Amino acid sequence: MSTHLRLGVNIDHVATIRNARGGDHPDPWRAVQVVEAAGGDGITVHLREDRRHIRDNDLDVLMANATLPINLEMAATEEMLAIALRHKPHAACIVPEKREERTTEGGLDAAGLHNQLAPIVTRLTDAGIRVSLFIEPDARQIDAAIQLRAPVVELHTGRYAHCEGEERATELRRIADAAALAARNGIEAHAGHGLTFDNVGPIAAIPQIAELNIGHFLIGEAIFIGLDASIREMRARMDAARG
Ligand code: PXP
Repeated sequence: MSTHLRLGVNIDHVATIRNARGGDHPDPWRAVQVVEAAGGDGITVHLREDRRHIRDNDLDVLMANATLPINLEMAATEEMLAIALRHKPHAACIVPEKREERTTEGGLDAAGLHNQLAPIVTRLTDAGIRVSLFIEPDARQIDAAIQLRAPVVELHTGRYAHCEGEERATELRRIADAAALAARNGIEAHAGHGLTFDNVGPIAAIPQIAELNIGHFLIGEAIFIGLDASIREMRARMDAARG
């Protein structure tokens, strides 16, 4: 069980802003340097099929220069598998991807997609890449991750982030139960999606969770307080919750 809760910073939305004007500012590589200086533990990027945020060239620069571990979020496709195998990032998080969605809207159906995922998990693992499956926090999906021999699951916190009151308490319990079930089965639990300064505490306090991946809020907040301060504040809130 990890005491230091790692913070992976998702820098995709620096690229989203850059791409809005088609130029090269703001540069995601500059964001990587800020993450390193601010005490982030890793860099997360999602190379989407439509390249709507980071692009192949961003990944080339990252892989060639970053000192922090890179977590590549990827759809379970042959194209993304080939890219991951070429770059060999520290970790690859397999996510569901639909062209029309605004963001990764739900977890991967690891149970239903076993046959499609099994060879991908094996080939990534054989290449020395730590595979994670981005799943909803439920026992059926954890069981599927066990069957697939995934070393890591990332629990989708989107539903938790977007509801309130009793519903949020129920979601929090689901996430805590899923993290405990994963840990009992030797699977490292990560979590992410929709986390903010205000809602990160209860998730960070779940002792079996080893890593949080946070993007949109940190980049959005950076507009007001700067990226360095945004990351440091998130880190402080995570540490305070972890005790
Ligand atoms: N983890 C995964 C697997 C994701 O797909 C995303 C969104 O790209 C995140 C974490 C970060 O979510 P957010 O941008 O809402 O913090």
